[in-house]
Amino acid sequence: MILNSKSKPIGIFDSGVGGLTVVREIMTTLPHQPLVYFGDCFRAPYGDRNDEELMEFSRRIVRFLLSKDVGAVVVACGTISARIFEQVRAFVPPNIPVYGMLAAGVQAVVETSKNGKIGVIATEGTVNSGTFEHSIVAARPDATVKSVACPLFVPLVEEGWVDNEVADLTAQIYMRELEDSGIDALLLGCTHYPLLSPSIAKALPQGVTLVNPAGYVAQALQRDGFGAEDGDGSYDFYVSGKKERFDKIAKIILPVFDKGSILV
Ligand code: DGL
Repeated sequence: MILNSKSKPIGIFDSGVGGLTVVREIMTTLPHQPLVYFGDCFRAPYGDRNDEELMEFSRRIVRFLLSKDVGAVVVACGTISARIFEQVRAFVPPNIPVYGMLAAGVQAVVETSKNGKIGVIATEGTVNSGTFEHSIVAARPDATVKSVACPLFVPLVEEGWVDNEVADLTAQIYMRELEDSGIDALLLGCTHYPLLSPSIAKALPQGVTLVNPAGYVAQALQRDGFGAEDGDGSYDFYVSGKKERFDKIAKIILPVFDKGSILV
């Protein structure tokens, strides 16, 4: 049977479990859409990798996803989206749309902030690139942006330490940098961070809204015609390492995770 490209699985990838926060939104918004996920747990974290390494990892993963005959690719990684998105797009065939976290994140936070004072938290690689800041100011010229790198967040999430005192204290220390910034919206610029939302929210002054762009990615897919009701809603998860840990976390955060992941 030849599948319409919108009925083919959507290929989604990240360094590890973080991209599952994007999978969760896509599953909820498009429950019939088949999905193939790749978590590069063996090479996580990506946050302090250089562009050449990120390109090499992305190329390998995209090749793998294309071998699964995907109809779209979602770069569910803020770091790759901020640093090398156009290069990744360039090695995906032009008939396969590619979605990333930058456009979604910028739209989400610009729409959420009322006072134009915007915070961004992300990996070191993302913050050092300045891409989110530039794109936010390009979309909203009156905005002022304060970015903070939170390099310990990804290892905490990969360890499953998302709701303990270490997570709370780590968030408190990072959020001190935003104390006097006057921000009313804080963009979670790394897909791992929504899993730490409770600790981050507790550490922020009242009146700051946390912004997770994942829902905007799901909406963009829906607008482009993905999620047809005749889709088979199958889900396949692949990892490059640390399968047990991945499965444990995936079971907690996804509405459906029945088969476990496959180590490749
Ligand atoms: N979740 C990814 C991101 O959004 C990668 C984080 C990492 O592996 O450091 O940036």
